[in-house]
Amino acid sequence: MSAQAEPLLEIKELKKWFPITGGFLKRTIGYVKAVDDVTLTVLPGETLGVVGESGSGKTTLGRTVLRLYEPTSGDIVLHEGANVMHVPQLDDKEMHHFRRNAQMIFQDPYASLNPRMNILETIGEPLLVNGIAKGTELEERVKKVMLQVGLRVEHLRRYPHSFSGGQRQRIGIARALVVNPKLVVADEPVSALDVSIQAQILNLLKDLQAQYQLTYIFISHAMGVIRYMSDRIAVMYAGKMVEVGPKQELLSSPLHPYTEALLSAVPKMSQKRKRLVSRGEVPDLSRLPSGCVFHPRCKYATDICKNEEPHLREISPTRTVSCHLADKLTLEGI
Ligand SMILES: Nc1ncnc2c1ncn2[C@@H]1O[C@H](COP(=O)(O)OP(=O)(O)O)[C@@H](O)[C@H]1O
Ligand code: SF4
Ligand SMILES: [Mg+2]
Repeated sequence: MSAQAEPLLEIKELKKWFPITGGFLKRTIGYVKAVDDVTLTVLPGETLGVVGESGSGKTTLGRTVLRLYEPTSGDIVLHEGANVMHVPQLDDKEMHHFRRNAQMIFQDPYASLNPRMNILETIGEPLLVNGIAKGTELEERVKKVMLQVGLRVEHLRRYPHSFSGGQRQRIGIARALVVNPKLVVADEPVSALDVSIQAQILNLLKDLQAQYQLTYIFISHAMGVIRYMSDRIAVMYAGKMVEVGPKQELLSSPLHPYTEALLSAVPKMSQKRKRLVSRGEVPDLSRLPSGCVFHPRCKYATDICKNEEPHLREISPTRTVSCHLADKLTLEGI
């Protein structure tokens, strides 16, 4: 994947703040800054892995990029050849067009499927609501995508309860792919599944990507899964991007202390690694620490870290990091 390739998607200074209301009048008394000033580029055909602990804002980022949540501010730009879509500004009709291009696979295949809709209705719904197909054409497209994801077409009129977790996630994948999207946001697509079937679903996603030139934003808290799936990795902490880079470089020579800490938790064959992410937790996103948000947990923190917020900066044409000491530290990778 070359750094010069035209991006498919650009996320620019994106914020999603959830208001906190309080008191009798339910006035806004603060914000949960779940996504706070995220800038990121996604290249066509790549898998961009987004990793970070639970509560770091990954799901909110994924949902906001697809405008399942309205952004608080910032821009999301999808390039479709010469056609440039500024997602936050699209009207209803343009949103239908956007939804043909960008779809989501959800974390929990139990919660995300409507128990009262059979498989034909479930997978066919995006075709119907976006005005793409109906009737026999819809049914043919649903059957085709069922085969692509490894479901049996004779199950077309069954309901979700009769399927296993892995099969339900195949239904979720079929529902996302039935509109032939270019971009798919997969939010922890195997986290709710038995370990024994996680690899099947991950490999299915890889096969489908190769076959249909899909671009993935692949979200997971598990570095092992991110490592398996990604071309590039974006590390998220407390609503912010702290490091972005090509997989191999980021894994072997991380630039941000939080990336180093996440990597220290990845099991290694030869030796037992000392887990570094232990001190404290992801901060309360409505009361962020001063300076660098990671400073209360960072073993390298100095005075400047407590007072000045670092910003994402380029260290090389392909790597960015937000740490005051990035040029000075030599961190341990895997
Ligand atoms: N709909 C919502 N309303 C208010 N706060 C939310 C909402 N969704 C998520 N949050 C908060 O935003 C923060 C980030 O959550 P989330 O995006 O789910 O993180 P992750 O996916 O990395 O675990 C959390 O503090 C969470 O409580
Ligand atoms: S800016 Fe300071 S506290 Fe933040 S990650 Fe870098 S060294 Fe640690
Ligand atoms: Mg999540």
